Amino acid sequence: MKHLLVLVLSALTASVVFAQPYTADRHLARKVPCQACHVTGDTSVPVRKQNCLACHQSYEVVAQKTKDLKPNPHFNHYGERDCSTCHSGHKPSVTSCNQCHKFDLKTP
Ligand code: HEC
Ligand code: HEC
Ligand code: HEC
Ligand code: HEC
Repeated sequence: MKHLLVLVLSALTASVVFAQPYTADRHLARKVPCQACHVTGDTSVPVRKQNCLACHQSYEVVAQKTKDLKPNPHFNHYGERDCSTCHSGHKPSVTSCNQCHKFDLKTP
């Protein structure tokens, strides 16, 4: 019985943790349709940075928004990668810098 309770509680916690809205969900909530990112309509085609920059303008513009962060996740030696390197579409985002560093940056 006690085990069942633990199972139920951990399932509940897991659903709360995993139900957070990812990048695509937050865009859909702003009425950004699938095709705005999946421009060809084929979701097996990778979403490239130019697809994001159709709305977000340029790396310079995005870097300006995060200019107070050290280091700036959008302006560094890593260069202008595809946004989805960090901002995943439908799963938790990552801070790919931390493959090599230990920065306290959390990608939304
Ligand atoms: C804000 C941009 C964005 C929106 C809006 C968006 N997606 Fe995605 N989607 C992505 C990204 C980024 C990937 C990862 C693909 C990659 O690695 O290039 C992806 C991947 C996918 C994949 C491949 C499997 C996976 O989960 O990686 C499917 C299927 C998909 N999207 C379907 C959809 C559908 C259906 C919608 C609308 C309901 C949608 N997407 C809206 C950005 C978006
Ligand atoms: C059709 C226009 C459009 C496209 C395409 C688009 N976005 Fe956005 N995005 C917005 C709008 C509007 C906002 C809300 C205003 C803002 O923060 O700039 C936003 C906000 C964001 C935010 C910050 C707020 C949040 O909810 O996280 C991130 C991060 C983001 N977008 C990443 C991306 C990435 C990565 C892609 C490509 C995979 C992308 N966007 C494609 C329109 C777009
Ligand atoms: C190396 C990882 C990485 C890449 C690549 C990346 N971002 Fe980000 N992004 C971040 C992190 C980390 C934050 C959170 C900054 C913070 O803590 O406020 C962020 C925040 C944002 C925000 C919210 C800024 C704000 O505070 O209003 C937007 C919009 C955004 N990113 C768009 C993009 C777009 C568009 C691209 C591609 C052109 C991109 N990002 C590429 C890591 C990345
Ligand atoms: C493939 C590994 C790798 C990745 C990924 C990477 N870096 Fe680095 N980075 C390095 C190396 C190697 C150095 C040089 C280390 C030194 O001089 O001590 C460095 C140096 C730096 C420095 C200057 C030294 C310091 O630690 O303050 C900054 C700032 C930095 N990186 C930021 C970033 C940011 C931001 C990202 C992600 C957007 C990133 N790096 C991604 C390998 C990487």
